[in-house]
Amino acid sequence: MDTPAQTPPSGLVVTDLSKEYPTPSAPITILREVSFNLPPGDSLVIMGPSGSGKSTLLYILGGLEIPTSGSVLINGVDPFHLHADDLAAFRNQCVGFIFQDHHLLPQCSALENVLIPTMAIRRTSDDTSTAVARAHHLLGRVGLSNRLTHRPSELSGGERQRVAIARALIMDPPVILADEPTGNLDQHAATDVADLLLDLQREEKATLILVTHSAGLASRFPQRADLFDGKLCISKESAQ
Ligand SMILES: Nc1ncnc2c1ncn2[C@@H]1O[C@H](COP(=O)(O)OP(=O)(O)OP(=O)(O)O)[C@@H](O)[C@H]1O
Ligand SMILES: [Mg+2]
Repeated sequence: MDTPAQTPPSGLVVTDLSKEYPTPSAPITILREVSFNLPPGDSLVIMGPSGSGKSTLLYILGGLEIPTSGSVLINGVDPFHLHADDLAAFRNQCVGFIFQDHHLLPQCSALENVLIPTMAIRRTSDDTSTAVARAHHLLGRVGLSNRLTHRPSELSGGERQRVAIARALIMDPPVILADEPTGNLDQHAATDVADLLLDLQREEKATLILVTHSAGLASRFPQRADLFDGKLCISKESAQ
């Protein structure tokens, strides 16, 4: 009798993730058997002291850093089992990254920056029209319809982060990873950016993981995890 095909798990499944870095004396352990699941549309905030491994964890989840052991599945795909080309495509299509520093290209306009991730997949003029329409939609959604042709140097810090959010969402990724996205902003701009990120994550039904040192921002998330001594401890208490 045939065994029924198993549906791959959707969302993010992290199992026994460990990370060590070699040093001249002995390896240092940054992550110790971190495991958690986040279904599509869920959000999680991660806090922890400086140097506790929060960025390292995000980079591994986004396929930018290789774990020492353990696995990551995004909609059933383990990025660390992909060939280099497929891994690059996976990062581009499945993960939207937002960093503390916006990482926008200085010579490109806001619209061009948002369109950059689509360049690898645009084959026809229809593809281009669809991508441009979505970029316009997202830039409108983050309140920048009147800043399309501005370069990053012609935008405020909060506006630059809003372009970075639109760029992270342009490929409609199942997972959004944000590493201290409001860390460089004043309180008002930080609240605006956080509101947008949470609203858009819900609208797009993406899984969001955000790292912050801000207790105020963390309190807006339904789930919080604390990273300490390599262990991730998730609490379900909701502030919403
Ligand atoms: N490539 C590397 N080689 C060796 N050690 C590293 C490397 N990258 C990071 N580390 C170490 O791993 C630890 C965790 O770094 P990480 O950047 O993940 O911390 P973090 O929790 O994001 O801190 P912060 O809140 O300051 O951003 C640090 O002690 C750092 O020195
Ligand atoms: Mg960090």
